[in-house]
Amino acid sequence: MSDPNTSLVTTSVQDGILTIRMNRPDKKNALTTDMYQQMADALTDAEKNPDVRVVVITGTGDSFTAGNDLKDFLENPPTGPESPVLQFLKAISEARLPVIAAVNGVAVGVGTTMLLHCDFVYVAEDASLALPFIDLGLVPEAGASLLLPRLAGHQKAAELLMLGEPFTAQLALEIGLANALCKPEDLEAKAMTTAKKLAAKPRDALLHTKALLRREFESVSARIDKEAEIFKQCLHSEDAKEALTAFKEKRKPKFK
Ligand code: COA
Repeated sequence: MSDPNTSLVTTSVQDGILTIRMNRPDKKNALTTDMYQQMADALTDAEKNPDVRVVVITGTGDSFTAGNDLKDFLENPPTGPESPVLQFLKAISEARLPVIAAVNGVAVGVGTTMLLHCDFVYVAEDASLALPFIDLGLVPEAGASLLLPRLAGHQKAAELLMLGEPFTAQLALEIGLANALCKPEDLEAKAMTTAKKLAAKPRDALLHTKALLRREFESVSARIDKEAEIFKQCLHSEDAKEALTAFKEKRKPKFK
């Protein structure tokens, strides 16, 4: 169990349920390289631990996560398949254990794309989601360019990914990204109720069921890599540099 006062990602295991909590509330739980690495490690360790049967991911405070730390994008951009962000995406997209997300507030960028890899997604009614890659001069990641149109249809995916505007928990429910909406105060209890039900199921049958449900896994994995390649190029573009610098300087970006 990690110390919630000092760790930017905390983990705890109870009754077969691993809870991973993004814990950087003053920065809306924006994910740094170290945080991605801790989350990737927690997921891969859980796969090897027979005592863990279910994973719950949530955030501290009023946010699930505001996505990748934008300062890190400028100063510490992902370099390749070994980069912590890609290790995290690989771990969550290949997880054999069921993963439940309890989206307790703002879910931006990877905060939304990681939901495409979860088996159960509960969202607080007042949460706000967004896929603002376009406005950062970037492209979708985590296989979202493949999985979102599959889930929501091309036009809705185009709206969310090409306009990049925030969307509501209700829309997440309507497009099938969320299983249910909850009052913020009931969210964790809802996730835990499902986690306990899953933890009581026969483990092998549960893991096989998840494996059977996972569709065309290889194309998802290839798409994550393809997106990452273009993402990396975009991150070095003048537009991305301008968008990230503008965020730092708290002004509107001026694209060429
Ligand atoms: N990276 C780094 N810092 C971030 C961050 C991010 N992705 N998101 C929020 N923060 C920081 C802010 O800089 C601010 O820090 P400060 O208090 O030192 O100035 C703090 O978290 C609170 O954020 P703030 O913008 O004041 O909160 P808000 O409620 O007005 O807005 C967001 C919340 C999430 C809508 C807004 O912060 C935002 O748009 N963040 C960027 C999201 C993003 O583009 N993520 C990457 C997607 S690929």
